[in-house]
Amino acid sequence: MTIIKEQPDLSRSRDIPSSFETVRLLVRRYQPDDASWYAPMSVQNREHLERYESGNAAMGIKTEADAAAVIQGFIESWETCRAFFLGAFHKESGVFVAQIYIGVANWDLPELELGYFADATHTGQGFVTEAARGALRFCFRELGAHRVRLECDDTNVPSYRVAERCGMIREGHLRENHRHADGSLTGTFLYGILRHELNL
Ligand SMILES: CC(C)(COP(=O)(O)OP(=O)(O)OC[C@H]1O[C@@H](n2cnc3c(N)ncnc32)[C@H](O)[C@@H]1OP(=O)(O)O)[C@@H](O)C(=O)NCCC(=O)NCCS
Repeated sequence: MTIIKEQPDLSRSRDIPSSFETVRLLVRRYQPDDASWYAPMSVQNREHLERYESGNAAMGIKTEADAAAVIQGFIESWETCRAFFLGAFHKESGVFVAQIYIGVANWDLPELELGYFADATHTGQGFVTEAARGALRFCFRELGAHRVRLECDDTNVPSYRVAERCGMIREGHLRENHRHADGSLTGTFLYGILRHELNL
């Protein structure tokens, strides 16, 4: 759950870089003309996202108009410093490989929240770990975070392996706090990393 304790200084959004690069990836904020490919990408990833990202905005997208509305929401979130949605694109091919979400837990600390998904056809190549490491650097260096947290289902092994490869520490375990659509119960691992622990 995202709690914004203080209205952020909106002028700060002008100073936030709109992209960063890693060895293989360009990770950038979305722009209106992304809707044309974001719509089919969302449809193709629905099954992939269903178990652990059922609330992801991509899950509700069927048409380019739906995608345009979601992208517009991403743009407004960025401009009001409420959340930062970025697409990760393979530099050589320009292909979309993953999405990074940086939420705002608390601007007072500041504490940010990291989330991600891989495009289903681009898993198992380290792209999410690479983009997430870059996103943590972005959180601490560009957004001034003191702490970044991440929540993930305790059965989502690929997800918590990404967090751990990025140096995030497992700080807690909420047991059986989520009931899935199929009725099964799972828990939530809580991860966090502090500014002085960034070693990326
Ligand atoms: C969670 C999720 C993003 C993880 O994706 P992923 O492809 O496993 O993550 P990465 O892109 O970092 O790839 C890591 C894998 O690639 C392998 N790999 C191959 N080349 C690599 C490279 N150059 N660098 C790093 N890892 C590499 C790693 O060994 C690792 O595999 P392993 O876990 O079997 O050891 C993906 O499963 C997903 O999108 N799930 C659905 C949405 C979701 O659950 N989101 C998270 C909610 S909290």
